[in-house]
Amino acid sequence: MPNAAQIIIAIDGPSGTGKSTTAKLIAKELGYTYLDTGAMYRAVAWVAESMGTWSVGHNISFNEKNQILINGANRESEIRDPKISAVVSKYSALPEVREFLTKKQREIGSMQPCVLDGRDIGTVVFPNAKHKFFLTADYKTRAARRLLELQNSGKAEGETLESVEKNLRERDAADTNRSIAPLAKAKDAIEIDTSHLTIQQQVQKILQSVGEVARCEVSEHNPKG
Ligand code: DC
Repeated sequence: MPNAAQIIIAIDGPSGTGKSTTAKLIAKELGYTYLDTGAMYRAVAWVAESMGTWSVGHNISFNEKNQILINGANRESEIRDPKISAVVSKYSALPEVREFLTKKQREIGSMQPCVLDGRDIGTVVFPNAKHKFFLTADYKTRAARRLLELQNSGKAEGETLESVEKNLRERDAADTNRSIAPLAKAKDAIEIDTSHLTIQQQVQKILQSVGEVARCEVSEHNPKG
């Protein structure tokens, strides 16, 4: 049987494709750990912006609700602010930041069965993951989803569909064109266009694809009763 280190579900793709909601639900269903790697890059950006500099000495972790802790303080709300979305790609392109976070993500993924969402999980962080997905959606759909998220968290002041779409396009360009670990579909990833799918439908598609293989793998390590 494969060991826990090999039980990885990689879900990559740009923002607004439903990656994190989908990944969370899949992790819950299968009893896996969920790791939001975008939150880790946002945490670095928040530290750098609010303290003027970034160094690897800062502690990034998650609480039991999957909210980000920076040096022990809950910064979940701060890292989701549009001001951080506007600058995060600048920091996520830095080699020392990617090296630091990739190492951390591999450590977490090697300790327990994990669903990770991000941009480079299937290509760089866990290139040998058995289950890889790449989610896409059209810009109008993605912008509408992001704006709704911002409205629901009280962060939409001054934001419009146009401003959100502009940020998505700029981040996609920066994330796709950077030289290290760019946003890319792994050759062996299954691509899912989520433009016309509900979250439940995309969760079902992935669960069907992962199928009983993952259930057998996890029952060896983390029986669900
Ligand atoms: O998923 P998100 O929108 O919260 O991610 C924020 C940024 O972090 C995104 O613009 C690109 C970067 N990122 C990355 O470079 N690699 C990852 N594995 C995850 C996110």
